[in-house]
Amino acid sequence: MHSSPGLPTQTRSNPHRRPRLSSHRIRESLTSRFAKCLCSILLTLVLVAGIIVFILWLSLRPHRPQFHLVAFAAPGVATRAGLSGSPISFNVTDRNPNAKIGIYYDAMFGSVYYKDRVVGSGPVMFPFFQPPKNTTLITGQLSGAAIEAGGTLSSQLSAEAAAGRAELRLELNSTIRFKVKTWDTHHHHLHVECDLVVGSDGSMLPESKNIKCPIYF
Ligand SMILES: *[C@@H]1O[C@H](CO)[C@@H](O)[C@H](O)[C@H]1NC(C)=O
Ligand SMILES: *[C@@H]1O[C@H](CO)[C@@H](O)[C@H](O)[C@H]1NC(C)=O
Ligand SMILES: *[C@@H]1O[C@H](CO)[C@@H](O)[C@H](O)[C@H]1NC(C)=O
Repeated sequence: MHSSPGLPTQTRSNPHRRPRLSSHRIRESLTSRFAKCLCSILLTLVLVAGIIVFILWLSLRPHRPQFHLVAFAAPGVATRAGLSGSPISFNVTDRNPNAKIGIYYDAMFGSVYYKDRVVGSGPVMFPFFQPPKNTTLITGQLSGAAIEAGGTLSSQLSAEAAAGRAELRLELNSTIRFKVKTWDTHHHHLHVECDLVVGSDGSMLPESKNIKCPIYF
């Protein structure tokens, strides 16, 4: 009893120290558990918000319109003057593939090229609105022009057409805006290119029928 006077003090001081330490530890582990919990709740919220934004983006993401060349005629192409002064007409279908997004088009302009030189151009469409899932027929009437400083190119075009195969390119351009419900997107310059082949009567050959015309923004 007398031999261990320090023990009671040790045992007395120990119960004092231990609860303080363990309550500190409990508080620490509680805060870290709370932090972990808060962290995982926040992470879950961020994940859910991200998924919602992704789904909204998927469903609202505008798809570009699709253009197909249906008909093209340049009856004067095989004459000596190339296309100078002769009419060029074409039909192109313009499909808006979006289910909920309409498209506003500014005035559309058309140009026809032979070997990257303009052989005819002119306005094609007035500004118009295209409803969702709508196919609009674009009918163009252009007048052919002499190739600038290209007398030999003009006769080359006529000669090729007379021989039954002349490669031309029809280009359409406009500025479009997508209409998502009441929210309008910014303007995009639209550029459509249809590569085609005409025969001696100036009508396009079957190989060009319904080709898809790539578009560039
Ligand atoms: C384009 O379509 C219109 C109406 O369907 C038709 O009258 C015209 O001949 C077509 N144009 C060409 C070049 O075939
Ligand atoms: C496409 O929209 C135009 C203009 O609103 C309309 O005249 C035409 O009938 C529509 N076409 C189709 C296939 O719905
Ligand atoms: C379309 O092309 C014509 C001729 O190159 C140009 O004058 C016109 O500004 C263009 N329009 C747009 C909307 O880019």
